[in-house]
Amino acid sequence: VNLAPYVSVDSVQLYLTDCMEGMGKLLPDSSVSVVVTSPPYNIGVRYTTYADTKPRGEYLAWIEDVGR
Ligand SMILES: C[S@@+](CC[C@H](N)C(=O)[O-])C[C@H]1O[C@@H](n2cnc3c(N)ncnc32)[C@H](O)[C@@H]1O
Repeated sequence: VNLAPYVSVDSVQLYLTDCMEGMGKLLPDSSVSVVVTSPPYNIGVRYTTYADTKPRGEYLAWIEDVGR
């Protein structure tokens, strides 16, 4: 996983990486106040790399992990 900022301006760093690995490695526990996101909705959208067609139970477990 790439943990170098993709863009860094003043006190803001943007990362282009897998959010599950990146957030786990870059953010200390209990350090996030709010998350604004647009996750995949598992409705079969054809993304370049991500497969938006997980089995329902697998998707629900994954999206729960995203918010944890
Ligand atoms: C609903 S789209 C977001 C679209 C975006 N808001 C836009 O306007 O372009 C969900 C995106 O999440 C990406 N994605 C899926 N798994 C991811 C992960 N583990 N980490 C980061 N992005 C992920 C997908 O590739 C897809 O581009």
